[in-house]
Amino acid sequence: MIQLENIALSYSTAHTSVDVLKDLNLSVSSGERVAIIGPSGSGKTSLLLVLTGLEQADSGTVTIDGKSLAGLNADERADLRREQVGIVFQSFHLIPSLTAEENVALPLDIAGEKGGRERAARMLERVGLGQRGAHYPSQLSGGEQQRVAIARALVHEPKLLVADEPTGNLDEHTGEAIMQLLFDLENDTDTTLLLVTHDTELAKRCDRTLRLHERSLHEVTA
Ligand SMILES: Nc1ncnc2c1ncn2[C@@H]1O[C@H](COP(=O)(O)OP(=O)(O)O)[C@@H](O)[C@H]1O
Ligand SMILES: [Mg+2]
Repeated sequence: MIQLENIALSYSTAHTSVDVLKDLNLSVSSGERVAIIGPSGSGKTSLLLVLTGLEQADSGTVTIDGKSLAGLNADERADLRREQVGIVFQSFHLIPSLTAEENVALPLDIAGEKGGRERAARMLERVGLGQRGAHYPSQLSGGEQQRVAIARALVHEPKLLVADEPTGNLDEHTGEAIMQLLFDLENDTDTTLLLVTHDTELAKRCDRTLRLHERSLHEVTA
């Protein structure tokens, strides 16, 4: 499902250049759950951006579901993301002027798919927010907003779900409920899951854990 080969990424500004990823390889099979751990600043978010085509690596190849990102232009990469990938961020990134249901329906609306509202309503039901579709993000708690974000990430039934510290802004109890929900939904659908987390206990619930250390990934054995 994911194949990264010899990825290098550095961020350059006028005066400095920061090497973030180097000689990084990753291979994830369809349906697998993989956790990525590593300290703050080690490049976890950068890695997710590279593999979803939101950031372009300096060198190396990214292949998602058999498609090399290098062969795609920006529009085609956006199409691939929209069709195959769901992304959940630490800070929920909901659109404040849209209701919960409109936020969830947005990816379907953008893709020109019909029945977005009904599918969004059903997805909100599945994340336990069936009664809150007409509410705006500001009217929802952090945990509820993250549920909406999860519903949005999954509404188009992506093959790959990428989650970047999805419980990072939540208290422990709410975070646990959100993770349980993510795992349950992922189980139901056979989605491949790439989970970035600080939490080694959470990581243990995945099939494999990889540590981002000194710019590349290393298998963690229990
Ligand atoms: N857009 C950017 N421009 C310059 N440096 C960046 C940018 N984004 C991230 N960095 C730097 O790259 C490194 C890795 O960041 P990040 O991928 O966000 O790490 P993590 O998600 O593991 O905390 C950090 O040193 C960070 O300051
Ligand atoms: Mg990060």
